[in-house]
Amino acid sequence: MLVQYAGSLEGRSIPNSIVASKGQEKNQNVLRVENLSKIYNSESGKVVALSNINFTVKKGEFVSILGPSGSGKSTLLYMIGALDRPSAGKVYINEVDVFSLNDSEIAMVRNRLIGYIFQSYNLINRSTVLKNVKIPVTISGMARTEANFKAIEIMKALGIDDKINEKAANLSGGQQQRVAIARALVNNPSIILADEPTGNLDTKTGREVFEILKKLSHHFNRTIIMVTHNAELAEETDRSIFIKDGSIERETWH
Ligand SMILES: Nc1ncnc2c1ncn2[C@@H]1O[C@H](COP(=O)(O)OP(=O)(O)O)[C@@H](O)[C@H]1O
Ligand SMILES: [Mg+2]
Repeated sequence: MLVQYAGSLEGRSIPNSIVASKGQEKNQNVLRVENLSKIYNSESGKVVALSNINFTVKKGEFVSILGPSGSGKSTLLYMIGALDRPSAGKVYINEVDVFSLNDSEIAMVRNRLIGYIFQSYNLINRSTVLKNVKIPVTISGMARTEANFKAIEIMKALGIDDKINEKAANLSGGQQQRVAIARALVNNPSIILADEPTGNLDTKTGREVFEILKKLSHHFNRTIIMVTHNAELAEETDRSIFIKDGSIERETWH
């Protein structure tokens, strides 16, 4: 099979098929959030987690989201990632109104257009690294040979290909987060959402994981939205959105 290489990540080759955009031009809106609100009905009453959020993200932008604990950052990522429905407002991905779709179409958006990276990695501990990375392409029904090929290529790029048969639980935190990044990339999504991806890692390992995300954005034109408490890392993204009490307080461009 002829593989075109788009460049290198972590000193390894990375195939175009994994990093190439899904036909979007630079400066095109990949994400548009319109008047988004989320109210949770909990036992202690209603919680307004998000209130009238508006912003857009262009192809290739690396956006950081900051704000105090409980300000609605994770809730915002859940809505963008179609993991939960908003109470009001709209999320457009590649100009498609996500919540106007039916449940199986929304599941497809989650699987094909979104790559999710969590603070606590969320790997299946008893499964191998390869199986973990392949979850999105297995769900999307890719043939086994192609799925293995894609997963292994991206693992090579991230420097974890020597761990493919290892159980996820046996890896260090930094290695587990690389596996999670590989899983987020394997289906070539339009948007990568990362919720405090360095939050469980020591400073040096957190920096290494952040550098991977930065490189994915700046060299491979991936669109990334990252929640972080780390102001120093946020400074190195293209834009920071500050959330307070479920609303956008301000935005800064770096
Ligand atoms: N499933 C839920 N049910 C009820 N309240 C929730 C739920 N998830 C989050 N919340 C509340 O919504 C608010 C925002 O939470 P969250 O988005 O997790 O904030 P952050 O990620 O900024 O710390 C908080 O007050 C939180 O307690
Ligand atoms: Mg959170």
